[in-house]
Amino acid sequence: MKKSMVVVISLFCLLFAVSFFVLASCTQEKMAVKAEGAALWDYLKKADYAKKWEMWPGKSALYPGKEPHGALLTTYVNKTALAAIKEKKGMLPDGSIIVKENYTPDKKLAALTVMYKVKGYNPQAGDWFWAKYLPDGKIAAEGKVAGCIQCHASVKANDYVATGPLK
Ligand code: HEC
Repeated sequence: MKKSMVVVISLFCLLFAVSFFVLASCTQEKMAVKAEGAALWDYLKKADYAKKWEMWPGKSALYPGKEPHGALLTTYVNKTALAAIKEKKGMLPDGSIIVKENYTPDKKLAALTVMYKVKGYNPQAGDWFWAKYLPDGKIAAEGKVAGCIQCHASVKANDYVATGPLK
């Protein structure tokens, strides 16, 4: 085989390998995080949500909240949720994440409550995965948490979301 031929073939192989890895890493980014408390916490830390995500449209940091979530609240949404809220879709799509930081009246972080929409996870209650964390990441509740669902069911028509209208 000619030397030039070998070079061309190797270049093709290299190109193929590179595009394969680029493609693989792209699909990985789109891959959803598991509906599981620890995995979701890791994901939120890596995503650096408090810096990189936007707050719920129209809400600023430490707005007054209602029981049981704390006197002051800061609510972040990921891109998927944000787009649907802005476009008044009526529902939040698969992959939506809402992170609510719950503060005491003297602005101390008391807990984080999270809703994560996972298609097929819990069709009876809006397919939400629920989690409550202490500030250090310790899981206080996770899964199809009856307490969360029962109260949020009062806004079932708004996709179990209480912070603002989705339509
Ligand atoms: C007694 C009723 C009640 C219970 C129980 C409850 N919530 Fe909420 N939740 C609310 C209300 C009311 C809001 C809106 C808060 C506000 O803006 O003042 C809210 C807001 C939220 C939000 C922001 C998105 C949204 O739906 O508006 C998340 C996330 C959330 N709750 C998670 C949880 C989790 C997780 C649990 C269980 C560990 C839970 N909640 C239990 C009443 C409740």
